[in-house]
Amino acid sequence: MKIAVIHGPNLRLLGRREPEVYGTDTLDDVNGKIAALAADLGLEVETFQSNHEGELIDFVDEASARVDGFLVNPGAYTHTSIALRDALAGVDLPFVEVHLSNPSAREAFRRRSYLSSIAAGVVYGFGVESYLLGLRGLAARIGA
Ligand code: DQA
Repeated sequence: MKIAVIHGPNLRLLGRREPEVYGTDTLDDVNGKIAALAADLGLEVETFQSNHEGELIDFVDEASARVDGFLVNPGAYTHTSIALRDALAGVDLPFVEVHLSNPSAREAFRRRSYLSSIAAGVVYGFGVESYLLGLRGLAARIGA
């Protein structure tokens, strides 16, 4: 089984981006922790980050031919992108939405997610652990 991890806009800044909100791990650190757990779970994993909505959508489409599900931190596109929602709905593979922070405890504009209602599950508020918990949930969902 193979999954793809998608990091949305500004997540390449992890480590220096508002560390009080997002922690001090870099994106490479996060990807390394995901890779280690994926290996334990017997999953193949590929990762992708983009700051561009269209590139994220193209990736969902292209990767859907070779993966069994997605682990997605859509960043700010969580709150704005009907197009990313449509892409994930369109490829009809399970995905888990994750966030490092707890968007419900932040600004009001972060309380709406366009993705949550079609996600297999959502994990937020646990820093890097959100990705790892989400990966376990996705593995269970795809029967890995
Ligand atoms: C985030 C939360 C979003 O509201 C924000 O725009 C991000 C990161 C998180 O992981 O906590 O870029 O998705």
